[in-house]
Amino acid sequence: MIRSRVVGVGAYLPARVVDNDELACRLDTSDAWIRERTGITRRHLAAEDELTSDLAVQAARRALERASTSVAAIEAIVVATSTPDHTFPATATAVQQKLGAPIGIALDVQAVCAGFAYALAIADSFLRVGHARTALVIGAETFSRLLDWNDRSTAVLFGDGAGAVVLRAERSRGDLADRGVLATRLAADGRHYRDLYVDGGPSATRTTGHLRMNGREVFRHAVARLAESVEAVLAETGLAVADLDLLVPHQANLRIIEAVGRRLGLPPEKTIVTVDRHANTSAASIPLALDVALEDGRLADGRLLVVNALGGGFAWGAALIRW
Ligand code: ACO
Repeated sequence: MIRSRVVGVGAYLPARVVDNDELACRLDTSDAWIRERTGITRRHLAAEDELTSDLAVQAARRALERASTSVAAIEAIVVATSTPDHTFPATATAVQQKLGAPIGIALDVQAVCAGFAYALAIADSFLRVGHARTALVIGAETFSRLLDWNDRSTAVLFGDGAGAVVLRAERSRGDLADRGVLATRLAADGRHYRDLYVDGGPSATRTTGHLRMNGREVFRHAVARLAESVEAVLAETGLAVADLDLLVPHQANLRIIEAVGRRLGLPPEKTIVTVDRHANTSAASIPLALDVALEDGRLADGRLLVVNALGGGFAWGAALIRW
């Protein structure tokens, strides 16, 4: 059988760092409130002339370098983003053009904060059915452009950034000890469309709009669905939470991450946390966290991990990976 293996990871964060105190200068908020409720201390914000595709390209170049893979080998580019450069064409085609990648599959995936889990599952399917042998899977966002900077309840939560992985199709005996993506699970529940949404769009308002959120509902569902998603993806293979070496969750809020860990009975040291320094970078948060875990040595060959995320829709998903 064919299995897709992650052979490289790359990350990019814009140069400008904004800490909580800087936000407190223009909003009725404080460093103490933001830290206590979210765990966030700072975020990176894109420069005026930096587009989502620019962030994506930087992350992709690093991932390709780590994978010792040339641009010429890329046969599919899947970009998870809710902040595309333009309404169309796909930001993936801008990335393709800027990288100088050859003709191949290129599409965007819109599943908001769950975007990377969806993009990974889609690219994994492409590889397993033979549509491509090497794929770039990117989460890239400039959420700062969607924020209402006068709304303290949302403006403090998000940051900009991009992360990328290179996936390569490899032959496998189908053994759970073999490296690669072992299982994926995706879901959505559109009854929550209005709990986390942007109040504009080309069809509804002909404007871009701003992010609106029912924070308490998001919190409640995030904890339940994220914990379920880990159990569901493990159940596909017969493995258990105790078998996991690492959980790399979407980074929205430290309290959500900790509550999911408690619900699963997972020791805190097995969960990667980057929300403190990156804030919520939506679809970019998981590959950014993978990059941090790789750099600090927690993501070593052979480790068993789950990546999982929930976002607007609500949409959620998880992937079980043998690194
Ligand atoms: N600074 C100071 N006070 C604030 C701020 C702020 N930045 N934001 C809200 N408040 C105030 C509110 O106005 C409210 O004041 P009131 O009591 O006078 O009305 C008070 O703080 C409490 O507000 P709540 O909304 O009840 O605060 P809560 O403890 O629920 O925390 C939060 C809010 C952090 C948004 C929380 O609900 C949360 O994390 N929800 C999940 C949202 C999330 O992570 N979204 C990301 C996108 S989805 C995803 O990625 C999973």
